Parts: sequence; C-alpha cells; structure tokens
Amino acid sequence: MQKHYLVTGASSGIGYKTSEILAQNNSRVIVIARTESALKELESSFPDQIKALALDITDEKSVDEIIHYLTDEGRKLDGIVHNAGLLIAKPFKELTQQDWQRQLDVNLLAPVLITRKLLDHLNKNAHILNISSMGGYMGSSKFPGLSAYSASKGALSILTECLTAELSDSDIKCNCLCLGAVQTEMLETAFPGMQAPVSADEMGGYVADFLMNGHKFYNGKILPVALADPS
Ligand SMILES: NC(=O)c1ccc[n+]([C@@H]2O[C@H](COP(=O)([O-])OP(=O)(O)OC[C@H]3O[C@@H](n4cnc5c(N)ncnc54)[C@H](OP(=O)(O)O)[C@@H]3O)[C@@H](O)[C@H]2O)c1
Repeated sequence: MQKHYLVTGASSGIGYKTSEILAQNNSRVIVIARTESALKELESSFPDQIKALALDITDEKSVDEIIHYLTDEGRKLDGIVHNAGLLIAKPFKELTQQDWQRQLDVNLLAPVLITRKLLDHLNKNAHILNISSMGGYMGSSKFPGLSAYSASKGALSILTECLTAELSDSDIKCNCLCLGAVQTEMLETAFPGMQAPVSADEMGGYVADFLMNGHKFYNGKILPVALADPS
C-alpha cells in the first residue's frame, strides 16, 4: 500500500533529497518549509506524489493547516521526518536569550508541536524520525560556538527516548539520527570552506531509506551517523 509521509525542511539540503527519494519510491509526501519556490519545484517534478505546504513550523497555525489537508484527503501519515533546522553559530558569551529562544523554537519546540498535534493522524506502525546532530549526541567532541544548537539537538535526541516510552502502546516507532557533517547550505554558512565527507544527496538517500525501513529494526534509538568524531 502507498505510504504517506511528512518531511519538514524540504526546501533544501537533506530534506529536499529525502523528499525526492520518497516520491521516487511512489510514496506520497507533504513537504514543508518557508521557501515556496523550492517546494513548488519538488511538487512539479512529482505532481502525483508531492504536496507542497509553505509554512513556518514555529507557527501553531501551520500545524492546523497540515491537519486540514490530511482531513480533506481522508489520509493518515506513515511517518514524519523532523528535519527542519536552524543553526546559530556564536560563542556562548555572545548568544542572546533571543538566540536561544529561536534555536529552541525551530529545533525542539516545533517538532514537539507537530508531533503532539499529529499523533491522532498517524497510522499504526508509523515512524517518527528526528534529525539531530553529533553535537546533540552525548560523548561526542563538540565544536565551539554551537552551544545553543547542540543543546537544542540534544533535547531533541532525548525527546525521542521519552516519546518512545509514552507511545509504546500505540504501535508508533520513534528514532533519532544524529548526523555528522553533510555538505549543505547550513554547513557552508556556519563553516565556510569546510568540506564534509557526505553530500546532501547521499544523506537524503540514507534518511529516506531509514524512514521507510529503520523502524522495522530500531525503536527509541539515538543513532550517530558520522564517519568521524567530531563532525
Ligand atoms: N548539514 C550538516 O552538516 C548537518 C549536520 C548535522 C545535522 N544536520 C541537521 O540536518 C537537518 C537538515 O539540515 P541541512 O543541512 O539540510 O540544512 P539546510 O539546507 O539549511 O535546510 C534546513 C531546512 O530547514 C528549513 N527551515 C528552517 N527554519 C524553518 C522554519 N521556521 N519553518 C519551516 N522550515 C524551516 C529550511 O527551509 P526554509 O528556510 O525554506 O524555511 C530548510 O529547508 C537540520 O535539522 C540540521 O540541523 C545537518
């Protein structure tokens, strides 16, 4: 049966490629981000598979729009990829409370909001996949300047374990991938000139495959996906 997924942060990088590969696998995919042009490009490449919703995930009204669409279609989701992310790179001393709030809003509170509101719109055996970072993985060496980003990702990682415990009766699986460096806009902006060992296309392929199949083998796991540490 055709699967139905939601991917946040689908306008670029890892999320764009993840969505493309899910569509190539004949899944239906709701793609979310603020940049409508990139989402429309995806939609026009896969008109039967992809539905573009240009939304800001930190806005509570955005989730209502997703629910509205699902209800109209009479469909539930087989998986969510919480991939949208923000990275503010600044020394701890220079980070403002507003910086911390923005980091937490996008990287933690938006996945919380979307998950909480969409729980009743998930099929049995659905897979909630959180995209964290090696910075949010315990015991990894950390880059300086990423305290707010890494703390937000660490919280997202731990949320995965908490959700798994709370959803164990509902047949919903949760996992978290803590990615190492991937060549995307985010990396290029935060670390100009840095060469990542993995491309966005390669990681998008991995994430799409893990979304479709990883929950057959893993549940409640926080998994590092990195060739080296730190990354
Ligand atoms: N690249 C790496 O080295 C690396 C390493 C570890 C983890 N990660 C994680 O991987 C994920 C994907 O990152 P990427 O490297 O592919 O970065 P990217 O190309 O910068 O993509 C980030 C995506 O998040 C979306 N986004 C940001 N704020 C949003 C908001 N308020 N509402 C809706 N969408 C929003 C952006 O879309 P709009 O701007 O159009 O809204 C964009 O599609 C992130 O969670 C990141 O933290 C990346």
